[in-house]
Amino acid sequence: MAPWRLPVLPVALVWGWVLASSSPSTVAPPRDLQITDPGLLGSLDVQWKPPPHEQTFNECSVKYKLEYRSSGDRDWKVIFTRKLKFRVGFDLSRTAEVRVQTLLKGRCTGDVEVQSDWISATFQAAPQGKLESEVQNFHCIYHDWEYLKCTWQPGLLTPRGVHYELYYWYEGLDRTVQCDRYIREHGINVGCVLQNLSQAEYRDLNVCVNGSAAATLLRPLYTTLRLHNLAKPSAPEQLRLSVSAAGELLVAWSPPGGRVPQHCLEYEVQVAEDAGEAAAAWAFVSTQMETALTISRTNQSHISCVRVRGRTNIFCADQGFWSEWTQNCFSVSRKEDKQLFILIPIILSLSISLIIFMLIGQCKKRSPAGKQTSVGH
Ligand SMILES: *[C@@H]1O[C@H](CO)[C@@H](O)[C@H](O)[C@H]1NC(C)=O
Ligand SMILES: *[C@@H]1O[C@H](CO)[C@@H](O)[C@H](O)[C@H]1NC(C)=O
Ligand SMILES: *[C@@H]1O[C@H](CO)[C@@H](O)[C@H](O)[C@H]1NC(C)=O
Repeated sequence: MAPWRLPVLPVALVWGWVLASSSPSTVAPPRDLQITDPGLLGSLDVQWKPPPHEQTFNECSVKYKLEYRSSGDRDWKVIFTRKLKFRVGFDLSRTAEVRVQTLLKGRCTGDVEVQSDWISATFQAAPQGKLESEVQNFHCIYHDWEYLKCTWQPGLLTPRGVHYELYYWYEGLDRTVQCDRYIREHGINVGCVLQNLSQAEYRDLNVCVNGSAAATLLRPLYTTLRLHNLAKPSAPEQLRLSVSAAGELLVAWSPPGGRVPQHCLEYEVQVAEDAGEAAAAWAFVSTQMETALTISRTNQSHISCVRVRGRTNIFCADQGFWSEWTQNCFSVSRKEDKQLFILIPIILSLSISLIIFMLIGQCKKRSPAGKQTSVGH
């Protein structure tokens, strides 16, 4: 027997009681929550100080739960961190809302997580210009993963001599950069083409279109782009159609060129039969990642037209734009046609022979009459 085991229970009880009595059942929130704007068009620095007496939580770890959103958003975005500073993205045209709480867990709390109250802060960029002076219909497309083209229209309130500029920033640039290739219309910048953005893929690309007019302040437009969700590939290439021995339509194509990662594409295939190219009645066939397909031809039609387009698939993006269509038609001669093809020469030669026979017959009838006539003279 092991007599030393006997006192174990009381000791454990006493130890447990000591632990429980010293466990903080509450913890203070962090202090001095601040939001500052480093001038990166939407990325704001959020920082705070640890709760007082943090160092007294022996054998416990302190973490923070940071929640943030732009006013009007329904959901908070959540970050768990041990750090005291975080840079997060907001829509600067709305109020930035942030709240932080302390999370304490470990032996000092009996391994139960203790949460503090929230500490909150907001940030509002100094409002500038009338709302109607903001540019409208701002759209961007990331063509072939090679260049980003953004366009906009002047605001409803367009003072004389208005001048728009586009600035952008993404993590990795030390400061905001201005567009260096504007699209102009009637002397006004209404778009911008940005190249060499591969470093900004799968990151937040902060964009601002602001402007000035002689005596008026214009409302800047702020937005955060995700390039991979704005991608539009070129149309698929080399669409090839043929017919198998079993009469099925074999379709194959090549992915578009450019920087588009091929594993990031999916294709939609449509077919139209016998409709001609003008008013084709396109029927959906398939959405797929492979670049070949076999279509059974139910209608035994003369002409089958196939068109294919591509876009980024769900493994690479949440959304994207369809490419233009690539189209090709294939004319198939029917079985009856083939029979007709053999029949036509036969019928033709038969008819010709018949005509020749008849002509010969006519000549033979006429010749005796001719002789009679000549004899008669
Ligand atoms: C593209 O960007 C990289 C840095 O991201 C730079 O080193 C390079 O010179 C740029 N190329 C062009 C053609 O602008
Ligand atoms: C537009 O924004 C950029 C970047 O923040 C800034 O440098 C520039 O002064 C602004 N222009 C106007 C007219 O507000
Ligand atoms: C086959 O033809 C019928 C009518 O002629 C048409 O409604 C149908 O869509 C065609 N099927 C295909 C796959 O084109």
